[in-house]
Amino acid sequence: MKPSGVRGVGLLGCGTVGGEVAGYLVRERSAQFKIHKIAVREPGKPRRLGRLKDRLTTDWREVVDHPDVDVVLELMGGEQPAFAAMKRALERGKAVVTANKLVLSRHGRELYDLARRQGVYLGLRATIAGIHPMIFFLHLALPAGKSIRSLHAVLNGTCNFVLDEMESASRSFEDAVRVAQKLGYAEADPSLDVLGRDTFHKISIIHQLVYGVSAADGRISPDRGLCEGIDRITAEDLHFAAELGYRVKLLGTIESVEGRRSIRVHPALVPKEHVLALLKGAENGMVMVDDYGEKSGYTGLGAGAKPTRIAVLQDLHAWAAGQAGVLPGEGRTLNLLPADEIASKYFLKFTVIDRAGVLAQISRVLWRHNISISAVIQKERREGDRVPLIITTHETMERSMRRSFKEILRLSVVRSPSTFLRIVP
Ligand SMILES: NC(=O)c1ccc[n+]([C@@H]2O[C@H](COP(=O)([O-])OP(=O)(O)OC[C@H]3O[C@@H](n4cnc5c(N)ncnc54)[C@H](OP(=O)(O)O)[C@@H]3O)[C@@H](O)[C@H]2O)c1
Repeated sequence: MKPSGVRGVGLLGCGTVGGEVAGYLVRERSAQFKIHKIAVREPGKPRRLGRLKDRLTTDWREVVDHPDVDVVLELMGGEQPAFAAMKRALERGKAVVTANKLVLSRHGRELYDLARRQGVYLGLRATIAGIHPMIFFLHLALPAGKSIRSLHAVLNGTCNFVLDEMESASRSFEDAVRVAQKLGYAEADPSLDVLGRDTFHKISIIHQLVYGVSAADGRISPDRGLCEGIDRITAEDLHFAAELGYRVKLLGTIESVEGRRSIRVHPALVPKEHVLALLKGAENGMVMVDDYGEKSGYTGLGAGAKPTRIAVLQDLHAWAAGQAGVLPGEGRTLNLLPADEIASKYFLKFTVIDRAGVLAQISRVLWRHNISISAVIQKERREGDRVPLIITTHETMERSMRRSFKEILRLSVVRSPSTFLRIVP
């Protein structure tokens, strides 16, 4: 740090978030923070940077190694060179503030260890839920000797917006994504969000904060765990769910079951009076049940340039004020619960030929797998038409559900599309 008290800032990335942070510091004429270097891919792109334009470079090393840079804001995204850049900055004793969930979910342990060894600040507020103080809430809640029985969270504002739009305006998934893109809630390539991967990265970071990080955490990834997105949900699914008293949300879940832990992401039916069901547009939220059965939670605006900029600046100010960052500790070896052993209630939607005895055929398969039916919706149509048949079940094992579902799909009266979704109690 300079004797004048001015802190030197290096910016890696000047896109949606980085551009918002740079723009804010310039607009505010910040006397405390001075941007010395900014790395981008294409310096020729139009940007509202004013006099900072001459500080652009395409080489991230120039930012990290700049002698006047005390803190590096990593806002590039992607795994590399973001990970290499953060490592190098920490090794050089520079503070790092990042919004990169992908890197922290994959390489968090190495970066947290490095930050601790070097005694430097690593800020990660912007990785989860923007201005939402979730990270601090989790950090403060847990030293009290509590742990978590279950945690359900809506962590992706894009998906929440899309589902909201599909339900309220009866739009198809594709149309709702187009609206989200137009309004700036979804990126040109929305796959990271809608396939659930972004939520998976965030729930992995929450898991690190709650339970610490162990070597086994390498096994927690969207490719190895249960990670389903919202891309196959239809407006019809949402309307049937509503008829049964539920709203569909993309949930990140952490659940402790007899010493084992489930970390997963999938769309789920949430009772319409549940806090998470009330989230609108791009809002995020989390509900946690602790070991004593106490429920607590938070809701707030998550995605978008502004909330993320605020989270980045909160970290920047916390570092400048000499505060310690919130870093996940060392965790015990993790015993993961296989997806097959999850217990849940289910919502099943079949497209069936409207013929006498169809429900009896399907019920027989469910009965053989010990799955009991809780409710049925069957709309009256003409004999021979294709109609939707909705069934909800009592709690059963995922393994039984998958097996019976496969068997039901083989019945001659069942056509596609047919689907099943989990129901949150
Ligand atoms: N957008 C959000 O609402 C949001 C919310 C929370 C967290 N985040 C996280 O914030 C990070 C940034 O997201 P974003 O939406 O701002 O991304 P973005 O708009 O795509 O911006 C990325 C920036 O990084 C630059 N860049 C990419 N690769 C580079 C490289 N190899 N060398 C130098 N510069 C490079 C790009 O340069 P060009 O400008 O030349 O292309 C661009 O300025 C990600 O980790 C994301 O997950 C975003």
